This record gives sequence, structure tokens and C-alpha cells, in this order.
Amino acid sequence: MEKIIVEGGKRLEGEVTISGAKNAVLPLMASCILTEGRSTFTNVPELDDVKTMSKLLRILGAEVEYENGTLSMDTTRLNNWIAPYELVKTMRASVLVLGPLIARFGRARVSLPGGCAIGERPIDQHLKGLGILGAHIKIEEGYIEATSPKLNGSVIPFDISTVTGTENIMLASVLAQGETMLLNAACEPEVTELVHVLKKMGAEIEGAGTDIITIRGVNKLSPVNGHEVMPDRIEAGTFLIASALTQGDILIKKCRFENAGALIGKLLEVGVEVSRIDSGIKVRGSDKIKSVDITSLPYPGFPTDMQAQMMTLMSVGDGLSIITETIFPQRFMHAGELRRMGADIKLVGNSAVVRGVPYLSGAPTMAGDLRASASLVLAGLLALGKTQVSRAYHLDRGYDRLDKKLEALGARIWREKE
Ligand code: EPZ
Repeated sequence: MEKIIVEGGKRLEGEVTISGAKNAVLPLMASCILTEGRSTFTNVPELDDVKTMSKLLRILGAEVEYENGTLSMDTTRLNNWIAPYELVKTMRASVLVLGPLIARFGRARVSLPGGCAIGERPIDQHLKGLGILGAHIKIEEGYIEATSPKLNGSVIPFDISTVTGTENIMLASVLAQGETMLLNAACEPEVTELVHVLKKMGAEIEGAGTDIITIRGVNKLSPVNGHEVMPDRIEAGTFLIASALTQGDILIKKCRFENAGALIGKLLEVGVEVSRIDSGIKVRGSDKIKSVDITSLPYPGFPTDMQAQMMTLMSVGDGLSIITETIFPQRFMHAGELRRMGADIKLVGNSAVVRGVPYLSGAPTMAGDLRASASLVLAGLLALGKTQVSRAYHLDRGYDRLDKKLEALGARIWREKE
């Protein structure tokens, strides 16, 4: 295992190019189960979660190659519909193969993903949707056993806005008989990206980006050739905050201003200079960080995946910030670690009350989940002295060489064996 060491106090400046989006490429990889032939994607980030999904697809019988950002997948000879516990327990997004496996084979046996550091993570909405489409669902020995002679289009009213729930049911319904209407569908840009690619494959889908998505079932989908994966808005947001924290001056290239409205709005309130330019977003940190309140919400609200990083910024704000987490109420693993660095944070229900302090002190810390690890690396950038973030594997699941990119911007950051 590795730990990341950060020596604080360096101002970040220069240019950084954002990699492809983890939460877009994972459902795109699962969508290839619906086709026969070779699909290729470019701008695919080098992440452990992409390696895990590749491993899972190989277990199902796909040929998967990845080289220099290009992922190619041949799903002609898929011959297995079982997603094993040993793999699913390491990555919840594995549940995204459930819908397409039922659509392709009429059956699937997928391990229940179980909980993780940010909460219980139920999938009842996934199972509700599949049941409405006609799948017979049983839970036994920790596995979802689903069978369905043929899925039939129907109206699916989600009780809660769920990103992978929307994606899973969409993947199940594109080859179903008739029309499916998803109500209270998730509007995240990664869902829209999946619709875009499914339509390239021949699917008939309307309403992407809204809370009502209509899918007309087709008989067959074709592989997609050379789709460029959208940039990762959470990685971009992480660099926006890195610049704000170090009073830096960074040009963040290959990212979309329009996908980051809620975060950019908050950073402008904090006093950070953010401007759109042709090739991306320019961000200049100021010497004063104004404390603001944050509430995480489904898109286009403030993203829960940016809550931890924002808590780091608010820990050195000029006053009081109330951070309310409405998506994953337990998503505060990072608070205790930031307190070890001198942050003044009190947890009250699903809110964190953050009273800004003049500075943080470097300390040994431990990452508990992907975005918590990013928030601790960010804290190390501004803390006095050295900060260690152990269990760096959390970071490598969802960030493509974050430490190397920060180093190229002037950060003193390196890895050591734990
Ligand atoms: C996706 O997770 C993302 N992961 C998460 O990113 C992200 O935090 C989350 O959406 C919210 O934006 C991927 O896309 C692979 P949800 P997902 O279903 O789909 C509850 C990261 O750091 N719920 O939208 O699992 C659920 O408990 C990760 O990159 C049910 O109750 O999240 C949560 O409270 C972390 N029943 C809320 O809905 C269900 O059947 C939203 O969860 C499904 C979800």
C-alpha cells in the first residue's frame, strides 16, 4: 500500500488537462454488453475502477484492451451472466451490469454491492424498475437472481433521484418490447452522456438531461466506434478548489463550464476569480476565503462528490460554514481527519458546522473513501508542514494521476510505501 505526502505552502500555477469522467465511462463500458462486436472509446481515464470494470467484463466473456487512453471491447463472445461478490464488493458500480445482462441473456446473477464508507447504498430502486419491466427478482446468498423471458416497456416512477438506478433501468429497457418512461430520472451529465452513446448504438431515447426519459425498445444495438468520453467534472472541481486554497492561478483545460454551475457559483461567493475561456476554465485564488453554506443536491445542485473538497476550503474560511449533505448523510469521514489537522468541525445530524481557522497543520491522516482522500490531499496543499494521506488506493480508484498533475502545477507531493 502507498501513502501520499504533501508539503504545504506552495502556490499552484500553470495548466492542467482534465481526464475522462469515471462516472461516465463505467456505465458506457456496461452498455457494451448490449451489443455484439468491438466498441472503442477514447479519453478513457487510467483508474482502478476502470480496471475493475474491465476485469468484470472479461469474466463475462468480453475481450477488453486499454492503451494510452483508448479502451476497446469486443462483446461478441459474452457467455457468462454472473458478477461475483469478490469483484462487486470492491466497486459498487459493478451493479450497472445487472440491467444489460438481463436484456442480453434474459437472466443475471449479480452480487448485492453492500454498503461502503459513505453509507448503506441500497439498490431498491434498481430492483423496483427491473421488476416493473417484468424481471423476476430473487435475493439469495447475497446475490440478485434475475430472470426474464423478455422485458416489456413500462412506466417506471423512481421514488428518489438515482444516477446508476436511472442508468441501469435505461440499459435494461433499450432492447425491451415497447416504450419505457422513466419518471424522476436523474439529470446528471453522465446520464446524458450514456443516452448520447446509446443513441449512437441505435437506441431511441428522448428526454436526456430532464427528469422524464422515454425509451422506445429496438431489436438490436450496434457497437460504437471512437466515442470520446466527457471530461470529469469532479476532477475539474477538485482543481478549482486546489487553486482557491493556494491562491493559485490555474488554467483547467478540457473541462465544461456548464457542468459546474453550482460549484462555480459557490466559489465566486467565496471570492475566487473564475472565468470561462475557449479551452477551459481559468481560476485564480484570492487571499481571503469567505465562508459560505453548502447543501449537496441532485444535479444541477451542488454535487455531493465535491462536498469533502469544499469542506477543506471552508476549514480556512473567514467565518462559519454549514455544509449539509442530503444525498449520503454519512458522507463525513473526512471531517475527523481534517480535525486532526486543526480544523474546527462539528457534525450535527447530516450537517457539518465548519468554523474557519487561520491555518491547518500537517499531520498523518487516513483516507476513508475516494473524495475524502482528495479532500485530505487538498488540505495538505495549504497546511503548514507535511501531511501524509495513507491508503492512497482510494484516490487511485477515481483520479487519474492527481498527485502528478498537482506536482506539475508546483505542489510538493510524492508517494511512499506505507
Ligand atoms: C452515483 O452513485 C455516483 N457513482 C456517485 O459517485 C455519486 O456520489 C452519486 O451518483 C450521486 O451523484 C457513479 O456514478 C458510479 P445514487 P449512485 O443512486 O448511483 C439512494 C464518486 O465519488 N438510493 O444517485 O450509487 C442512495 O442511497 C461516487 O464518484 C436509494 O435509496 O448514487 C443515495 O442516498 C460516490 N435506492 C441517493 O439515492 C436506490 O436504489 C442517491 O444515490 C438507489 C439510490
